[in-house]
Amino acid sequence: MQYLNLGINIDHVATLRNARDENDPSLIELALVAENAGADLITVHLREDRRHIRDADVFELKRNLKVPLNFEMALSDEILRIALELKPATACIVPERREEITTEGGLDVVKFESRIGEFVDKLHAAGIDVFLFVEPDEASVRASARTGARGIEIHTGAYAHGFREPRRRAHELKRIRDAAKLAHSLLIEVHAGHGLNYPNVREIAEIPEINELNIGHAVIARSLMTGLAQAIRDMRAAMRR
Ligand code: PXP
Repeated sequence: MQYLNLGINIDHVATLRNARDENDPSLIELALVAENAGADLITVHLREDRRHIRDADVFELKRNLKVPLNFEMALSDEILRIALELKPATACIVPERREEITTEGGLDVVKFESRIGEFVDKLHAAGIDVFLFVEPDEASVRASARTGARGIEIHTGAYAHGFREPRRRAHELKRIRDAAKLAHSLLIEVHAGHGLNYPNVREIAEIPEINELNIGHAVIARSLMTGLAQAIRDMRAAMRR
């Protein structure tokens, strides 16, 4: 079985930083911690509303990281211009709605096939590998292959939501397995992500065609669970009289 890359999405670090007008926590320092801890790549989503990651962040990450930067982006001309200047290793095109809390659902590749194809061509011409964030359904996978994208990232949100209901979980897992097989047969690469956490990642990691997982929320949340006690001990030491 091929090596399974782990991409760490650090958008939530930026959300916390932006709660105060200071560079705390430092996105770059934590990205380097992630890199040193074995993240194979760092993923960020520069949203059109800039609610977490900012323009300066992506350029600073690109300058400082040794591992590849995976740039999640909407089908937006403004963000495309930034991607072409930034030249991340990979770009993952995602749907984006301003009112959503996080990315909901996959890209409608069938509907936007020609526009997506133009984005793919421009990004590939700049040396950026392109992935499309899609639902695990046959039409989306086939349309993705037609755009010339290097691969797909399968949206695992429905699987993650249904994880505690055996029938739903089995149904969603089968959809993901089938989509991964189909993509592989069409000679495009397969990544997966969204809503993956410590209990549910295993079954997804076992799908042999998938060679990369992008995970954010669960890892950042766990870092608070594993790190809060030490942070309190450090403060106790700092305020010692
Ligand atoms: N992959 C894509 C395309 C995403 O948009 C996100 C969320 O930003 C993730 C993976 C990571 O999702 P989560 O934070 O739920 O692990």
